Amino acid sequence: MPSATPRFANLRIVDHPLVTDKLAVLRSKTTPPVLFRRLVHELTWLVGVEATRDLTLRPVRVDTGLAIFETGRLAVPPAIVSILRAGLGMAGPLQELIPDAVQGHVGLYRDEETLKPVHYYRNLPDLSGRTVLLVDPMLATAGSSNDAIDMLNEAGVADADIRLLVMIAAPEGMTALAARHPGVAVTEAALDDHLDEKGYIVPGLGDAGDRYFGTL
Ligand code: PRP
Ligand code: URA
Repeated sequence: MPSATPRFANLRIVDHPLVTDKLAVLRSKTTPPVLFRRLVHELTWLVGVEATRDLTLRPVRVDTGLAIFETGRLAVPPAIVSILRAGLGMAGPLQELIPDAVQGHVGLYRDEETLKPVHYYRNLPDLSGRTVLLVDPMLATAGSSNDAIDMLNEAGVADADIRLLVMIAAPEGMTALAARHPGVAVTEAALDDHLDEKGYIVPGLGDAGDRYFGTL
């Protein structure tokens, strides 16, 4: 069940007790990588269901053995594009939800001093006609997400065809994203309070990539 958030027009927060419960454990600094990975996996399913609510169906007829049933299949399987590294943890569970999706990857990391994204990898399939599900667990300054969306635009994908899936966002990042890419719809598990002086989301969960891959 998404909550209406008038603060940001294109934002859906998945307001659900299971999301709150899983996020509580994900956030705890005592949660080890093995459990952290499991929770990212499960939260991605919950966020993914909401983020894909408006995918187009094509009509199909299915013979159930009892009747011919008029129903729908996905018209065009979407593309899942992960922002490396931490986005990899969301791509797998999303691919489980949408087995026919194709995958692309964009490598970006945040320079610790400037907080600006540094681009090191890009491998995108043919995205024409597809909705792109862009995944990254953290939206802090939005530098990484904004740059990744720029790359998708360069590859011919309009903002209206991009959905950004996030675990935790900061309001500062949402403002920066809305300024550069107002047409990108964002679905997230939580919108947190603020960024600290080092660009970390507060309360947040720390460095998502390090916690996921055990590189703290
Ligand atoms: C994290 C996170 C986002 C980015 C968010 O990645 O996964 O990509 O920071 O910050 P921003 O909104 O201010 O750009 P990080 O730079 O730590 O790289 P990693 O995934 O390789 O660890
Ligand atoms: N990247 C993270 O992984 N965590 C933050 O809090 C901010 C950026």
